[in-house]
Order: sequence, then structure tokens, then C-alpha cells
Amino acid sequence: MDTTELRPVLAGKTYFIRTFGCQMNLHDSERVAGLLDACGCLEAADPAGADIVVFMTCCVREAADQRLYGQCNSCKSLSPAPSGKRVIAVGGCIAQRDGEGLLANVDNVNVIFGTHAIAHVGELIAQAFEDGGRHISIAEDDALSAVDMPWHRETVYHAWVPIMTGCNNFCSYCIVPYVRGREKSRSMEEVIDEVNGLVRAGVREVTLLGQNVNSYGRDRYGAPRFAELLRKVGETGIERIRFTSSHPKDLLPETIDAMAEVPAVMPHLHLAVQSGSSRILKLMNRKYTREDYLGLVDRVRERIPGIALTTDIIVGFPGETEEDFEETLSLARTVGYAQAFTFIYSRREGTPAAKIEDPTPHEVIQERFDRLVKVIEDTAHAFNQGELDTVVPVLVEGASKKNDRILQGKSPKNQTVHAPLPAGVDAQDWVGKIVDVHVDRARTWYLSGTVVGAPR
Ligand code: SAM
Ligand code: SF4
Ligand code: F3S
Repeated sequence: MDTTELRPVLAGKTYFIRTFGCQMNLHDSERVAGLLDACGCLEAADPAGADIVVFMTCCVREAADQRLYGQCNSCKSLSPAPSGKRVIAVGGCIAQRDGEGLLANVDNVNVIFGTHAIAHVGELIAQAFEDGGRHISIAEDDALSAVDMPWHRETVYHAWVPIMTGCNNFCSYCIVPYVRGREKSRSMEEVIDEVNGLVRAGVREVTLLGQNVNSYGRDRYGAPRFAELLRKVGETGIERIRFTSSHPKDLLPETIDAMAEVPAVMPHLHLAVQSGSSRILKLMNRKYTREDYLGLVDRVRERIPGIALTTDIIVGFPGETEEDFEETLSLARTVGYAQAFTFIYSRREGTPAAKIEDPTPHEVIQERFDRLVKVIEDTAHAFNQGELDTVVPVLVEGASKKNDRILQGKSPKNQTVHAPLPAGVDAQDWVGKIVDVHVDRARTWYLSGTVVGAPR
């Protein structure tokens, strides 16, 4: 991507990016940062020190929506920008959904760029600096693909690798297909080239990204090829492979085989269930039943014993009864999730579920949600006990937030692990290294133990 024309305007300007939402947005932010770096911009520590403030937005739930307005308003009271002029840019899913409509609600925003237009963000920001006007791009643009953009990675040892964008599933509650478009897979060669480059750059773990990675390749090759992709990524020499998200309806036996047989694929599967009631699953348009899901879990466990299963669950889908909810509780107990992201249903205008009236009082939904959280705490605690007195290889992320003498990292099953650092070792020295930890304690949300042996 050529940034020569942008440099005279943007070089030397400082930028700050705040990201909301999912890993897709995190990755898109890394591309925006990469582009600004390539234009000669410098990263600022906070919005006050930035000439360019970028918000990467999410609208999957209402709370995420509301946050943007607060953030934009708070920019009004910042001290003047270092260069004397500040440009505020809003990208991501709210930008894609609302486009020009956003300008009326957030009067200090200069640039709006949709999820398909991130490759244009540099020119839009440069124009805003030059003419002081407001600039928008939310059209889908094939000519300039985000994957050709420079890339500013947050960590040296891990990389997000989008293998596809968009979603074809139209779950009845979900806004994502409307703001991210239809599934579009990258070519297998492009993905493998990228992972090879990352391995050469010293990356040890990749997370393959898509809203439903199991259907990777269907749009491009006529049939899903995710199992093949996993095997090919496994041949690059990358040490750890993770992926998200995986839709139960499309998880093929060949993918479970690849997970079991490719040593670099980590023993962790995020398999969003959303509800344990077949009646609600049908209303959600998920295309599997409770029995289908439990059968899948059995097959995965048979091939990959001890695998960590995590999930997403929505409480309070319109019309969900106490009986439906109890089916979710019992499914969560049966599966024994290692972790779950739990959400209270949020009505999203434009989705089919938004038309369903629901008389259930909020307090009832909140009380169910709290019960679910307790069940997940129990299953997570029970799952972690399985690691007690074992030695787990931990990819070190840095020091724990509370104590800089304690390292924090991730086990193969994606559990957070803490261990005291040996005397004289700084956590920064070990970032990106893999170290064996003997697990002495297994808590609900983390394991802790003792470092055994040298990092590698
Ligand atoms: N494509 C992923 C999948 O199907 O597993 C999920 C992507 S979505 C960004 C993440 C999660 O947000 C979903 O799995 C769902 O649990 C939750 N979610 C989506 N729409 C929601 C809504 N309207 N209200 C509450 N939670 C919602
Ligand atoms: Fe949303 Fe369903 Fe697509 Fe996931 S699979 S992004 S929940 S529509
Ligand atoms: Fe949010 Fe968009 Fe991701 S709506 S969850 S940032 S795809």
C-alpha cells in the first residue's frame, strides 16, 4: 500500500486508537495503526496527547452502542491537540451501520469509515486535516483490501490472522451479518504466506479469525476447507494454533480429526451454544438442537480427551421461559465449560428477533443470568482441578496486573497461569517465551504454580 501522498500531511502527527468489540475489531485496529505508522505518525499514550483519535466501534449489544457517544463527547473537554488540530475518526460496526447518521449524533466527529473501508482511513484523515471537513466512506471496496495494509501488532509472540470476514448465518438476534457483510474467505495461499511470514518474525501463536471459521473456503472453493487449512497452518512451524469462532452446525468430523492430529492446534474449542433449549435455538435460527450440540461435544471429547470447551450464552432471548433457561443451566453443567461469555439479550433494531415482544421482566432475566454465572463458576472451577499437580507449558504474556514479580501466561487449554518469577528475572525478559509451570493451585479463573526448568 502506497502512503507517499499521505505522508506530507500526516507525518509527525500523533494517534490514539480505542477499540471496542470482538477480535475482528482488534485486528482491524492493528491495521489502522499500521497504516498510520507507515504514514509517519506516532502512537500517543492517551487521547489528550493525540492529534488523531480513532474509535473502533461495536454494536453487538446496546451497551456497546452507548459507549461511543460518551467517548466522543469526552473528547470535547480534552486539552488542545499537540499539532493544534485534532481529527476524530469513528470506524467499525457502528460506523458501518449508521454512516452519515452518526454525524448528527456526534457533532465533533470528522471521519467515518465502515468495516469495508479501513484501507481508506489514511486518506480520509488527511483530507479532514487539510480541509477541516467531514469525510465518510462506508461502501464496500474490493480494490483496496485491508489485508494489504501495513500491520502494527500489539504483541511480538501472538498474531490475529483473519481467514475470512462477514457472516452468512443470520442468527435472529445478531447484527453482525448486517454490519460485516457476507462471508468472504481469503485464499489458502495468502493465509499460509502470512503465517509463514509471522513464523519468520518470531511469532509463536496465531489465532485464526472468522465469525464462523468452520465454513472457511465455502464461498471461494465451493466447499468448506477449514480442516485442510488447519493442517497446512500446522506445517508452517507455528507452535500454537487457536481459532474462533466455530459454529456447531458446521463443525465437521474432518475438522475434529485435524484438531486431534495437528500437534500445534491447542486443546481448546470455543463452541458457542447460545441456549440449551432446542425451542429457543430454533427461534434463534441456530440450525442445531440441544441433542446435536451434546452429540458434537461427545465426539470432540472422544477424539481430544481433556479438551477445554468454552462458549457464548445469551440469557433472556424473547419468550425464553424458566423451563428453557433451566435447559441452558443443565447443558452448561453437562458440558462442564472451562469458561463462558454470558450475555443478557439485547434487542438490535433490524434483526428478526427485535420484532418478538417479550413480557418477561428485566429482574427475572437478571436473576437467571446471575444463576448462570454461578453455574459457570462451578464448571470452570471443576475443570481447572484437572490441571492440579501437572506441568503445563505456559506462553508468557508478562507480569500479572497485581504483582510484577508474578508472571502471567496461557496454558495450551487457554487457562490463565500465574507463577512467581525466579530472582533476578524481569517479566519483560520472558514475554513470548514458553516456560513449564507445575500447577500447585487451581482456582476458578486461573491456575498458579511454580516454574520448573528454563524458558524456551
Ligand atoms: N460468530 C460468533 C459465533 O456465532 O460464535 C459470535 C460473534 S458475536 C460477535 C459474539 C457473541 O455475542 C455471540 O456469540 C452472542 O452470544 C452474543 N450476541 C450477539 N448478538 C447479541 C444480542 N443481540 N444480545 C446479546 N448477545 C448477543
Ligand atoms: Fe452473529 Fe450468528 Fe453470525 Fe455469530 S454466527 S456472527 S452469532 S449471525
Ligand atoms: Fe461488535 Fe462488530 Fe465484532 S458488532 S462483536 S465489533 S463484528
